[in-house]
Amino acid sequence: MSNSIESVLVETRVFPPPASAVQGATISGMDAYRALAAQAERDPDAFWARMARENLQWTKPFTQVLDESKAPFYRWFGDGELNVSANCLDAQVAKGNGDKVAIIFEADDGKVDKITYSQLLARVSRFANGLKSLGYKSGDRAIIYMPMSIEAVVAMQACVRLGVTHSVVFGGFSAKSLQERIVDVGASLVLTADEQIRGGKQIPLKPAVDESLTMGGCEAVRKVVVYKRTGGKVDWTEGRDVWMHDVEAGQPDACAPVPVNAEHPLFILYTSGSTGKPKGVQHASAGYLLWAILTMKWTFDARPDDVFWCTADVGWITGHTYIAYGPLACGLTQIMFEGVPTYPDSGRFWDMIARHKATIFYTAPTAIRSLIKACEGNPKTHPSQYALDSLRIIGSVGEPINPEAWMWYYKNVGRERCPIVDTWWQTETGGHMITPLPGATPLKPGSCTLPLPGITAAIVDETGEDVPAGNGGFLVIKRPWPSMIRTIWGDPDRFVKSYFPPELKGYYLAGDGAQCDTDGYFWIMGRIDDVLNVSGHRLGTMEVESALVAHEMVAEAAVVGRPDDTTGEAVVAFVVLKRSRPEGAEAQAIAQQLRDWVAKEIGPIAKPRDIRFGDNLPKTRSGKIMRRLLRVVAKGEAITQDVSTLENPAILDQLSKSL
Ligand code: WT7
Repeated sequence: MSNSIESVLVETRVFPPPASAVQGATISGMDAYRALAAQAERDPDAFWARMARENLQWTKPFTQVLDESKAPFYRWFGDGELNVSANCLDAQVAKGNGDKVAIIFEADDGKVDKITYSQLLARVSRFANGLKSLGYKSGDRAIIYMPMSIEAVVAMQACVRLGVTHSVVFGGFSAKSLQERIVDVGASLVLTADEQIRGGKQIPLKPAVDESLTMGGCEAVRKVVVYKRTGGKVDWTEGRDVWMHDVEAGQPDACAPVPVNAEHPLFILYTSGSTGKPKGVQHASAGYLLWAILTMKWTFDARPDDVFWCTADVGWITGHTYIAYGPLACGLTQIMFEGVPTYPDSGRFWDMIARHKATIFYTAPTAIRSLIKACEGNPKTHPSQYALDSLRIIGSVGEPINPEAWMWYYKNVGRERCPIVDTWWQTETGGHMITPLPGATPLKPGSCTLPLPGITAAIVDETGEDVPAGNGGFLVIKRPWPSMIRTIWGDPDRFVKSYFPPELKGYYLAGDGAQCDTDGYFWIMGRIDDVLNVSGHRLGTMEVESALVAHEMVAEAAVVGRPDDTTGEAVVAFVVLKRSRPEGAEAQAIAQQLRDWVAKEIGPIAKPRDIRFGDNLPKTRSGKIMRRLLRVVAKGEAITQDVSTLENPAILDQLSKSL
């Protein structure tokens, strides 16, 4: 638990929602929130059934709501059928939103492309027809390794239209990570682009796909479909590789959506856990989409004239729920951005909000913190220099937001008039779980406030008993909810072990430590497992360790997180080489080699910020690495703990020095 909970809990300021936010909100005022939560509490089945009937279009209506007979493998609306793409696109066209802009795409270089709902439906249909003609059908799995683009959304929606389960891999992951996911998911199709463009630089994507497919285990992949983003040079495997525009060409504009069971796997998204191997989080169709829609309406108070902007990449869960599905299913106009917040300068976000008149803006604390530094240092790019009056709600996601960053965001971006929705959730939860409602909840900087209606969040001890307000404990969700993870793809045992440990009474264990204050507000303290949060990205310490020990020079490695002002946490690696401990320039050079190696094994986000070499690691007499001490050493603090159980105390001195 790396976040400065002490500093957070002395926070006493409370910001009630302005009258303008309360008026006309989907959930308007705390009484409305309490009434809805009470309804869900009284009769959960009736509540969820009503929500699913009112918010989704079913080709075959469901008669069962929650099936707990195989708990914790829950099923929701399990005898119903629908198609998620039809609920996102066809539904909008049928409602008369055909000519409404669905996506305003802004490229890295500022070029803007707009696509309406009917145009998007036609493109998705043409591409789906093309995939069908290549033999793809319901039950197949596709890997999507694409940059932020309308094409990425087309790819996701086209898969879903056919019942093909997608697994999006963030473009920053290496060929090796990509291959592991292709193998684990059993993909027969890979969708990619020639290159991506970020911050003025062209970054190749297809070579990573080519490389991953030579690594073995990917024999099921029949086709690689390539979106031509830059026209950069690519290698081409005849018979396997095909351009996306050629797949679409000549295909009819209509493609009947394939009805699937409510529980049909909509997508699999990999995330880090406490072992070396990422977990394939599997989501179902109906329950996931229902929660995407409800959270759009409740947390973002979605209204027809909103211009919604979520800055996440589609490679993460945030980009799934709040770009590819939620905003479309609610018929909003949304902004999608290819580039980075600091290019051409750190005013890019504010400039885009002003130009496109965004009304809802949703980003991560790490972006806010780095922009605070950049904008305070370059007054021309400060948010005060831009017309941000279109904004009415601003949001935060991915990690705890410290009160200082919260206040800056509230004052400078929200102009003390826009509620901040600090949304706590996870890849596994599918959508927001604990979050303020902009037209109801009084805000406390640093707290994600209260659970949404239907979400039974609580803080418990190691026996599953509720702990009193003010005490830390495990964050759990007591009852199942429709958008919850269904299983870990291919590893049901790990699913049960990770999320439903027997001592916790069948509650869903989120993996976060947290506490509630006397108002019932939740304060997230950080992960309780060996998972780090670096710039809002989850990273397993074991994953980085496995990558390091895979290097021929490395004998042993231990990885811990160190609090960092900008990225939340930074990766610190303690390494024992097979040869003697290097020093000086040689140590620097080897550290650089190891950093590059980790980038190649996992991706640049996993690169250790700091590498320390030792003759050994601090171990107990039974040989267990003492990570608790390493965390202290990584912070550069003096050891005050008892080290009497340590086999080799002198090693701490050696490891405490940065290169
Ligand atoms: C972990 C989940 C949620 C989508 C993006 C990240 C941390 C997430 C918050 C928040 C404090 C947060 C938790 C959680 N986290 N949102 N508002 N306040 N912590 O999804 O990669 O699955 O990571 O991110 O530790 O368990 P993810």
